[in-house]
Amino acid sequence: MESDNVYGLYKCRILRVYSLTEEEKLFLLRFEDSDIAESWSFIPGQFVQVALPGVGEIPISICSSPMRKGFFELCIKKVGKVTDMIHKLQPGDFVGIRGPYGNGFPMHEFENSDILLIAAGIGMVPLRSVFMYAVDNRWKFGNITVINSARYGNKLLFRKELEAMRDIAEAENIKIIQTVTRDPEWEGRVGRAQEHIGDANTDPENSYVAVCGPPTAYRSIFNKLIEAGYDPRKIYVTLERRMKCGVGKCGHCIAGSSTFLKYICIDGPVFGYYDIISTPGLI
Ligand SMILES: Cc1cc2nc3c(=O)[nH]c(=O)nc-3n(C[C@H](O)[C@H](O)[C@H](O)COP(=O)(O)OP(=O)(O)OC[C@H]3O[C@@H](n4cnc5c(N)ncnc54)[C@H](O)[C@@H]3O)c2cc1C
Ligand code: FES
Repeated sequence: MESDNVYGLYKCRILRVYSLTEEEKLFLLRFEDSDIAESWSFIPGQFVQVALPGVGEIPISICSSPMRKGFFELCIKKVGKVTDMIHKLQPGDFVGIRGPYGNGFPMHEFENSDILLIAAGIGMVPLRSVFMYAVDNRWKFGNITVINSARYGNKLLFRKELEAMRDIAEAENIKIIQTVTRDPEWEGRVGRAQEHIGDANTDPENSYVAVCGPPTAYRSIFNKLIEAGYDPRKIYVTLERRMKCGVGKCGHCIAGSSTFLKYICIDGPVFGYYDIISTPGLI
């Protein structure tokens, strides 16, 4: 449910704050208004605008499952003015939230197929929502593989959560692969996410793929997926851009040419493979 005023904010209380890495914190939030808490819903891949009065407003992906009514989680990396202030907040403090915005992943299309999730760095944030939704609705989907990657082991987002799930996951035909590229101390798998695509338990001929990471990695991931037999029509990625309004009004997030224009905030942030390769400047 959205507020009548597109810039209207809902008041949310922070219930818990967890440090995931040195730079990323996970915030559990609840709507103060019980009617909003009841009716608010989202699709994995959508984002909210988080507002701190007097400081600013930023887009952040929702990283929890939409099945948890009234509560949601945001994983926020400390990079500048607003995120620094958010990192100082404690349980009991409030933030303003508007949204959800953007299109999200086509979860209904994914039904009855295998799902391969490929995350690099902070890319695990929106994909965690897809993953948790698929786990909550396990009977709707086929095999699932999550490939979570980062440069160093201590930068792997949700590493412990995914590790803790591994045994139960395997019994449920869910495969969790965590890999790092530059960590001499790391004892697990090494290499970039795309180097592990061949180890996924997903059938390339019957799979949807969701990718999130730095756009510079996308071409190489696409090439590996297509080489392995995955259908480009079933590959989706999520993109980040500097945004202001989040609702298609300010033009801050536009990409493309005059004949092929995309607003990342309303046409995305989730795009299909063919949108990505046919829209100049999207990655
Ligand atoms: C759809 C969407 C979803 C997002 N989801 C998340 C999320 O789940 N978790 C999360 O931590 N961040 C997410 N981001 C990025 C987040 O919005 C920015 O990090 C935030 O706006 C920075 O605000 P700031 O005031 O702290 O930093 P600023 O003081 O504005 O900037 C600090 C530094 O960060 C850079 N920066 C700021 N915004 C962006 C951006 N959008 N992309 C790349 N560099 C940027 C600036 O160039 C500068 O170097 C998302 C962005 C978008 C568009
Ligand atoms: S952020 Fe304003 S148009 Fe997209």
